[in-house]
Amino acid sequence: PKRVRVHHLREMKAAGQPITMLTAYDAVTADVFAEAGVDVLLVGDSVGDNLHGHATTLPVTVEDLLPHVRAVATRAGRPFVVADLPFGSYEEGPAQALRTGVRMLKEGLAHGVKLEGGRRVAPAVKALVDAGIPVMGHLGFTPQSVNAMGGPRVQGRGSAADELLADALALQEAGAFAVVLEVVPGPVAERVTAALDIPTIGIGAGPGCDGQVLVWLDMAGLSARTPKLAKAYAQLRTALREAAAEYAAEVRSRAFPGPEHTFPE
Ligand code: KIV
Ligand code: NA
Repeated sequence: PKRVRVHHLREMKAAGQPITMLTAYDAVTADVFAEAGVDVLLVGDSVGDNLHGHATTLPVTVEDLLPHVRAVATRAGRPFVVADLPFGSYEEGPAQALRTGVRMLKEGLAHGVKLEGGRRVAPAVKALVDAGIPVMGHLGFTPQSVNAMGGPRVQGRGSAADELLADALALQEAGAFAVVLEVVPGPVAERVTAALDIPTIGIGAGPGCDGQVLVWLDMAGLSARTPKLAKAYAQLRTALREAAAEYAAEVRSRAFPGPEHTFPE
């Protein structure tokens, strides 16, 4: 199947065709999600709290993320692969953002990058776009700012909705090809979606966005608990625990390996 490109995502918005996006951190899930027909794979800094055992995304470095980006991008045939710019790798300004963005495409083989923030990162977005690097914005609850935001809470309520819209328009103006809206009231996400020509991708932002994204471990029921904004479409945590327990029991009882798993002389 043909590779997904940024113009396809814009065409999907115009056609009212929802865009599907999941995180992926390795070649196995990249393969599976590509087979499932998912449009966009995000190698998110959520690898930090989901796979590296951190409490937040803040400790994730470019060096941490790059091998994951490369694994996903190498395998993903059809999906568009977006790499997050980790906390501390772009805030100094356009030059730093461009250096990190180039690494994500050159070393990570990503097709585009995502960074958090609105008007304050617009110059960085423009520098990346000018260099030929597609950029996805990220507004609402931005996990890299969790300490400043006082925890994971709904963003864009009341007068903050106008600020959110101004940020989204600034990202579009700077050349972003899409914007993630995270934990934003549904009606506010709808308003932003209607005001933008570029697609919005929601997570905890209701059904009115042009697409949806979830952390794949939440989507598959592998996380210890499923956040309110997510839906578990499988129970991988239970399935995996039961498989491991059964394996251990069969090793202890010497039921495994059987003759069919054993090589003759
Ligand atoms: O890192 C991540 O998984 C993300 C998505 C939740 C949008 O940024
Ligand atoms: Na992220």
